[in-house]
Amino acid sequence: MNAEIPQMQGFASALKASQSMISAHLENRLAGEDNLHQAMRYALKGGKMLRGFLVLESARLHGVSQKVALDAALAIECLHAYSLAHDDLPCMDDDDLRRGQPTLHRKWDEAMAVLAGDSLQCFAFELLSNPDMGPNALSLIRDLAKSAGKDGMVSGQMLDIAAETAETPLTLEQISLLQARKTGCLIEWSASAGAVLAGADSTPLRQYATALGLAFQIADDILDVEGDVQKVGKAVRKDANAGKATFVSLLGLDTAKTRARTLCEEACAALAPYGEQGECLKEAARFVISRDS
Ligand code: IPE
Ligand code: IPE
Ligand code: MG
Ligand code: MG
Ligand code: MG
Repeated sequence: MNAEIPQMQGFASALKASQSMISAHLENRLAGEDNLHQAMRYALKGGKMLRGFLVLESARLHGVSQKVALDAALAIECLHAYSLAHDDLPCMDDDDLRRGQPTLHRKWDEAMAVLAGDSLQCFAFELLSNPDMGPNALSLIRDLAKSAGKDGMVSGQMLDIAAETAETPLTLEQISLLQARKTGCLIEWSASAGAVLAGADSTPLRQYATALGLAFQIADDILDVEGDVQKVGKAVRKDANAGKATFVSLLGLDTAKTRARTLCEEACAALAPYGEQGECLKEAARFVISRDS
């Protein structure tokens, strides 16, 4: 089906291969030795690069060339890294540790974390608008603007912060909306990117990603309760103290885990149209709910 992106044996090796390809692409595309460039590259180091992997896998399923797919994969990792650099700021979650390293504002200062985040966001759109991206680039760019902004990730972050001081706990429906925006939107963009670039029907991948995104954030919330700081690479036991609204806070650990498993099954079922070719994405969904980092 695809001449340029080979199918890898299993999710673990596919994720590893994606991480090396995206990291090498980062060094290529974001050379520059001034402080801003260094801080931008620092913000991308050490992540799982799951969103970038989803882009590459969805591109593989739709015959999109690796060259184009890598720009899109790097773009979403930049956008995601910006969201984390800002999420960690003292005015947001006030975190010192990210991916096992000092957060950007700890390594440099707050101004640098704001500015490196800002320029990572711009750089994501610069990558997606390069002339090689093909005739469907505009759809992809528009999708990202919507997924990242006022009705997407930023809106989710806003709801998350607001929930800390809400007088009554959020309902299940409100938490689902918050999580879908905060985490789900960028995951949906990633998983559907290959189909959008190929001008193909993105419905099955969007269904997959809706379930996966929610499962992913539930797993993040569970890790906050049960995780080990060394493995997770960021502070744990923070959500409850900060009064964060999570599935775990509302449903308790066991029900949250059951919900994550059900969502994983839903995600896998959505991949039926891809047959055996969808196996790696199914493994990705199982990884998402069993991960320890
Ligand atoms: C963390 O995302 C933030 C959430 C949206 C829950 P990841 O768990 O994908 O973080 P990295 O990129 O691997 O560090
Ligand atoms: C942040 O969610 C999600 C975004 C940056 C959009 P969290 O605040 O739960 O992420 P972590 O736990 O700090 O990685
Ligand atoms: Mg946060
Ligand atoms: Mg946070
Ligand atoms: Mg979290």
